[in-house]
Amino acid sequence: MSNTVPWWRTAVIYHILVPSFYDTDADGWGDINGITEKLDYIRWFGVDAIWLSPVYPSPLLDLGYDISDYLGVEPKFGTLDGLDRLVSEAHSRDLKVILDWVPNHSSDRHSWFCESRSSRNNPKRDWYIWRDGKPDGSPPNNWISVFGGSVWQWDDHTGQYYMHHFLDSQPDLNWRNPDMQAAMYDSIRFWLARGVDGFRIDALDMLIKDELFRDNPPNPDYEDGNGPDSKHLPVYTRAQKGIHDIVAQMRKVADEYPDRLLAGELYLPLEEVASFYGREKPELHLPLNLRLCWTSWDRDEWKSVVDEYNQKVGSKGWPTWSLSMHDCPRLAARCPGEHTRLAAMLLLTLRGTPTHYYGEEIGMRGTPIPANEAHDPQGRRTGRNRDPQRTPMQWNSKLHADFSRVEPWLPISDDFQTANVSDQSDDPHSLLTLYRRLLQLRRDMPALNLGEYQSLELENPLLGYQRSSNGQRVDVVLNFGDDPVFYRNDGIKRILISTNLDRDHEVFNEVEIRGGEGLVVSH
Ligand code: GLC
Repeated sequence: MSNTVPWWRTAVIYHILVPSFYDTDADGWGDINGITEKLDYIRWFGVDAIWLSPVYPSPLLDLGYDISDYLGVEPKFGTLDGLDRLVSEAHSRDLKVILDWVPNHSSDRHSWFCESRSSRNNPKRDWYIWRDGKPDGSPPNNWISVFGGSVWQWDDHTGQYYMHHFLDSQPDLNWRNPDMQAAMYDSIRFWLARGVDGFRIDALDMLIKDELFRDNPPNPDYEDGNGPDSKHLPVYTRAQKGIHDIVAQMRKVADEYPDRLLAGELYLPLEEVASFYGREKPELHLPLNLRLCWTSWDRDEWKSVVDEYNQKVGSKGWPTWSLSMHDCPRLAARCPGEHTRLAAMLLLTLRGTPTHYYGEEIGMRGTPIPANEAHDPQGRRTGRNRDPQRTPMQWNSKLHADFSRVEPWLPISDDFQTANVSDQSDDPHSLLTLYRRLLQLRRDMPALNLGEYQSLELENPLLGYQRSSNGQRVDVVLNFGDDPVFYRNDGIKRILISTNLDRDHEVFNEVEIRGGEGLVVSH
């Protein structure tokens, strides 16, 4: 492979929720040292980079996505020295480290906001978004917070409203203010200078709001149970004019350091997601494609997302795939039993950079937690509880799944007797072994990492595609149905891997694929 290929094109990114990975100081919360201790596992598993949920000082009202200092480390998670050590230990194992960076809002405990709310004349007043109410005193417009209720919070002290797209303790920063921008760019430099390899940028599409603060129109397709803010179409709140200039500026800052990665969270139509590679100027290396996290497990729907996304990315950029993450239910809760294996094969064989959420490799399901007991503020306020996908990593079948010596901050999922690293490591047919074998195959075969992609037009319930590179050609074919189906393609010769891990024999132009089975076959 040419050494001009940037590392993130061939990388698989392992997404770690820091509070839930491994607790070394017996407070029931995962910590940075815990990740350092588990680096050998991560390397053995076979990924190339880790993305950590926010580690900055925070009141942790939204699990760290409420930052009170962009230049430090939350004591519950460790110290700056500990983070430096994690970065250097990761690098010595050839693993990259990506931090979550949350530019849309800070915590209301950030000194910037304390200053901003102290008086209307404070120099940092304009670092956040303050507005007068309407003449009758009601909020300035109809915008709804992702966590429910108005985005506007009244502040008695200065007699104005401030904006928050999430909790009222997460005030939105004003990305139209150049001094605030400069301070945030410095926070990027601070971490990149310490050797961090890049950022996953949170809620990126929301940074800039309509300059005139116009009301969002109603959403004719709104259904109860969707997020409260989906009552409206986000015409004036997402992907507003000016956002691309800001992302281009972020990229310019990141490019001051060699080989760094900017990936961004975007909830936009796929065409707009793809626009974040940049038009005139480079923007994100990887605008994250989160669509499959929210697509119900159905062959036709998955195929149409895969086809549409590939078509929108075209030659503009390099694709990304995520099937699971900290905001959406886990795969085992979304697809039937063995189909988590199909999902694994799909994630690791499509063309592009996958993000893999911790615990998916052992099929963690998560424990249902009633909304009124939720840790997650979204769960408590809207019923859409994210706790089940955030439960602690299951290392073995001992007490607390060996995540911690004490009661963990969220309950251990009750599948830990079988869904755990220790038992599955020794089992040649486990889901963990399947992930490892697929990761290995992906590393070994240029066709599967950087290779070309071509969709195979197969009938339901099969979904398939061909990957190829310099004469190396493989077909990936997944059977979403319950019954066996024959797959025929002249020239196929050998099964390289089955999701059942029970066959790797030769075939002659045709192979039977069992219900719920996926195969990679070579030509
Ligand atoms: C992003 C995060 C989510 C968080 C929200 C507010 O969507 O993924 O977990 O609650 O931003 O920061």
